[in-house]
Amino acid sequence: TRNHSIEKDMILPIVLPTYNEKENVLPLMKEVDRVFSGKRYDYEVLFVDDSSDETPSIIRQLANDNRHIRMIHREGKERTGLATAFIRGFEEANGTYICCLDSDLQHPPKKIVVMLEEAIAENAGIVIASRYTTGGGGSQGLDGRYRKFISIALRYFVQALFVQTRKTTDPGSGYFLFKKNILDGVTLQPRGFKILIEIMMRANYDKVSQIPYTFLPRKNEESKATASQGIELLKHLWFIFQTVPSAGRFVKFCLVGGSGVVVNLGFLYIFVEYLSVGKTVAWLVAVMLSIASNYVLNNIFTYSDRKSFSRAEYVKKLVQYYTTSSLVMLVNFAIYSVGIFIGFHYILAAFVGILFATLLNYILATKIVWKERVKMPEYKLEEI
Ligand code: GDD
Ligand code: MN
Repeated sequence: TRNHSIEKDMILPIVLPTYNEKENVLPLMKEVDRVFSGKRYDYEVLFVDDSSDETPSIIRQLANDNRHIRMIHREGKERTGLATAFIRGFEEANGTYICCLDSDLQHPPKKIVVMLEEAIAENAGIVIASRYTTGGGGSQGLDGRYRKFISIALRYFVQALFVQTRKTTDPGSGYFLFKKNILDGVTLQPRGFKILIEIMMRANYDKVSQIPYTFLPRKNEESKATASQGIELLKHLWFIFQTVPSAGRFVKFCLVGGSGVVVNLGFLYIFVEYLSVGKTVAWLVAVMLSIASNYVLNNIFTYSDRKSFSRAEYVKKLVQYYTTSSLVMLVNFAIYSVGIFIGFHYILAAFVGILFATLLNYILATKIVWKERVKMPEYKLEEI
């Protein structure tokens, strides 16, 4: 068993990306030093610097007097933006936990230790400093109503799409701490600024905690976040959607369902118009075919992480899928009938039926047909 008490000499690596922050690094380091003085933990600051101004020479001077500071300075072609700066920092960091914050004092350093203690107390894989909590926090630093609106809209969009990001109220936060081992065996492929979303979507963790903080206004230099960062975020989300099987599963399921409607209507039309099949039989066969095509596509797109191991399992699931789909159709018809009975317009009644049928179908598919496999504990050979 592991014990989570802290050794006196525990060192917390802090990854600090810098891009032209010459006025900020000195006051920042002063504050970080103050936060850790008298604490039982030690820290190591890892500056990952892409600056084109005097920032790196200032950091070098600081490092001369402060053994806690290390710098990775990137030049020329190595300067590939904030996302890769974080990854570089994670690779170089040695410790149980890693803390990330900005180097421009918009993230008040006193929360570093608060997050560390929260992580230890709650045994959390990730602790997030959130601008949006009921217990306080704020986003004063987001200049202007426009940026505030965009930030909140993006937050709801991300959380609507990706269930995993709902464990926090601030998935776009740049101020957080995590256990390094949640990244074991994980390859991060972020773009843009939102490294936390990338971690939440790909890492292996259970518990997420959050603490409130106030995002302070920037005093020196300028924010590097621009409209192009917003586009970059959308590209990042799209990439996650494509490469993480469980990302946006419900959306994938609905897209496949939509394709099923096309298959269904297409076959119905062909059978009736070209093959002179009776409308009832044509309907039934078209429905059966569309369920089959949904099944195949769901295997490929929606549940690509839960593939069948054998042909027998594939067939068993197909039978299950036909069964649950038929049940769902009955429910759909029942809702439609009840809707009309209580006086709904028939189109509205049909629409409500489809809505509930889709949800029910998704739940049955996820919980029964493609249910999550119980993870077997991994034994080492000598234990057997
Ligand atoms: N190494 C490196 N390379 N650092 C960079 C780069 C880069 O290309 N671009 C920006 N940085 C550094 C900045 O020096 C700063 O320390 C930090 O990354 C964030 O950049 P800002 O320009 O200050 O971003 P922001 O204040 O608009 O937004 C930040 O805070 C938000 C609230 O937590 C970001 O962290 C957002 O992701 C976050 O939502
Ligand atoms: Mn900032």
